[in-house]
Amino acid sequence: MRYSKIVGTGGYLPPTVFTNADWEKRVDTSDAWIVERTGIRSRHIAGPDESASSMAAIAANAALEQAQCVAKDIQMVIVATGTPDKIFPATACLVQKKLQIPPCIAFDVQAACSGFVYALSIADQYIKSGAVSRALVIGSELMSRLIDWNDRNTCILFGDGAGAVVLEASETPGILSTHLYADGNYDELLYVDNVQLGDHSGVIPGVAANENFNIPLNKLHPYIQMQGQKVFKLAVSKQGELVHEIQEKHHISSEQIDWLVPHQANERIIKATADKLGFSMEKVICTVATHSNTSSASIPLALNVGVRDGRIKKGQTILLEAIGGGLTWGSALIKY
Ligand code: COA
Repeated sequence: MRYSKIVGTGGYLPPTVFTNADWEKRVDTSDAWIVERTGIRSRHIAGPDESASSMAAIAANAALEQAQCVAKDIQMVIVATGTPDKIFPATACLVQKKLQIPPCIAFDVQAACSGFVYALSIADQYIKSGAVSRALVIGSELMSRLIDWNDRNTCILFGDGAGAVVLEASETPGILSTHLYADGNYDELLYVDNVQLGDHSGVIPGVAANENFNIPLNKLHPYIQMQGQKVFKLAVSKQGELVHEIQEKHHISSEQIDWLVPHQANERIIKATADKLGFSMEKVICTVATHSNTSSASIPLALNVGVRDGRIKKGQTILLEAIGGGLTWGSALIKY
């Protein structure tokens, strides 16, 4: 049987650290409130010259180095991002160019904070089917450019960064299974409007003037809009369901899972999920305190931290799980 296996991980966090004290100077908030409600103490903020592709390329290089492979070994690049450099070409193409990867499959995935799990699942299918042998799977986000810096309800939650893995064909497991879901009925809970596409002031040829789209800019929200408490409840319930689904499918108990690497949105969500499943927090890789919510980058960044500090070891069983705008949610059970 052919599996796909993670053989390298990498991460990148911009050097500028923005603490809760820095937010106290900008909006009506406090370190005590942010820590109590979210567990977040600081986040990294990208500089003006950084982009999703520049951060992704650094994380990918680190993953390639750990995997002991070079650019020409890669046959597929997937970047999960909600903050692409451009509408097109895909950020994956820009990463391919930066890393000098020869012509291959390269595209972006947009599944908000679940993006990395979605991208991993796609790459896994391509490798298992024999279509490719080695893929770069990356999550890279510039959330600081999507927040309203004056909205205390959302601005304190997010940060920037990129995480990457090299996925390689293997005769031994490997990714054991992935499970992806979306329910567009929850689209209003967490979203950012596309201002660019909403700003149609020109006339579309062949369309009567009164039928032209003309959505006024002031009705659009270019920054993150979120119904925090509803998202919180759904996050805990959906992530709980994901773990139960994996446990039933693989007849595996919580004790047999060595590490839970969840999406890093809020320490309370992570703890509530862990509690529900009888997971001690010692078995959870938790980076939210210093990374904050980096959307699709959060899982590969946390995975990279666990691998590089020696907690995650070869042969261990790891569960990844995420939820994000869409709503989208998903999980992956991995033999590392
Ligand atoms: N500092 C101080 N007070 C703040 C604040 C801040 N940064 N943000 C909100 N508040 C205030 C609110 O205005 C409200 O005040 P009020 O009672 O006078 O109206 C009060 O704190 C409570 O707000 P509430 O929204 O009920 O807080 P909460 O306990 O639900 O925590 C979140 C808010 C956003 C931290 C929490 O709902 C959450 O984490 N939700 C999930 C978000 C998430 O994970 N999103 C990404 C998913 S991928």
